[in-house]
Amino acid sequence: MNPVDDHLLIELAAERGTPLYVYRGGVIRDRFARLRHALHGFERRILYAMKANRNAQVLRLVRAEGDIEIDACSPREVDTALDAGFAPDEISVTAGMLSNRDLAQLRDQGVHLNLDTFSAIRRWGTMVPRGTAIGLRLDPGVAIGYDGSAKLVYGNGKFGLALSAAAEAAESARAAGLVVDTLHMHCGWNLQEAALPGFETALAGMAALARRLGVGTVNVGGGLGARFRPLDRPLSPEAWGEALRRHLGGLGCTIACEPGTFAVAEAGRLLVEVNTVERRGDTDWIGIDAGHNVNVYAAHYGIPLAISVLGRGDTEPLRRYTVGGNINEPNDVFARDVALPEVREGDLLVLHPAGAYGSSMASDHCLRGWAGEVLLP
Ligand SMILES: Cc1ncc(COP(=O)(O)O)c(C=O)c1O
Repeated sequence: MNPVDDHLLIELAAERGTPLYVYRGGVIRDRFARLRHALHGFERRILYAMKANRNAQVLRLVRAEGDIEIDACSPREVDTALDAGFAPDEISVTAGMLSNRDLAQLRDQGVHLNLDTFSAIRRWGTMVPRGTAIGLRLDPGVAIGYDGSAKLVYGNGKFGLALSAAAEAAESARAAGLVVDTLHMHCGWNLQEAALPGFETALAGMAALARRLGVGTVNVGGGLGARFRPLDRPLSPEAWGEALRRHLGGLGCTIACEPGTFAVAEAGRLLVEVNTVERRGDTDWIGIDAGHNVNVYAAHYGIPLAISVLGRGDTEPLRRYTVGGNINEPNDVFARDVALPEVREGDLLVLHPAGAYGSSMASDHCLRGWAGEVLLP
């Protein structure tokens, strides 16, 4: 952050209090521009994965882009997207383990579903008019995703029909009066450059199936990310787009994608206040006014966000601290042994990138409440 931005963040923290998520709209718009460019040459649909950040102002900004649609994963997300001005035919739902109650709501909302069980296909067919279009969510059988973490790899697990089951699923859909118009996959979170070969294997499988089943749309899900650790090498949208062209270029299909993290992660900062600085044993602890209820990255995924001291970007990081949150659980630690300039009680810390899966995954654990949110231009 440059000093001008720091000054603004200090003012915002004083006005709104902390913890506070601050989003930069310009960064989100820039990410969509990069995606449009990466998909040049394709008929395309960019469906913003609102599970990453469903803040009302952020959704309004996405709506104002004009050509960005929505990937939703529950009836309440659909309601929220409708409230933000998206039309039912601009909302695609990809979700698993759907109940009949979910399906009835989604039918009434009039949205398109990508389904991934024979059960959901059968049940949906009894609820909607004959000829209703669906997508099949597939598991191309590659296990890629940040760190190889079981929490962030989507293949070979809970999601998606095996490629080898797709023809049978299409037949079940036909028997249920449905028309398969889309093949869908979502391989993993925050794909790195090293994931490219696996991603291409997945695309090749999808391309072969799209030819065989003759669908109009291939949806390649999300997975583009951001730099969370200094050594991260996130797969760039440009390299991703080239891979799509290599494998899906000749199909004549519409290419859909569902960016969440890429669209909003780097646009967001989380401001927190230091309430405690104290040495215990060999450790210099910093206590802050947020916990894993406000941001789950460190405690749930084991991914520490980058931390800086507001207004002291030009000061040498001379000391090593461990940063603890205010939730009564031992794993509520944001970072261990992180180098920072000398920190004082009352200082403000900035955690980054915090725009994706921050506020949207927050809880009221320990009745600590939610962080504020503000969208800047
Ligand atoms: C089906 C589906 N699409 C898109 C996304 C968004 O993914 P990302 O944040 O990696 O862009 C997710 C995330 O869980 C998902 O499950």
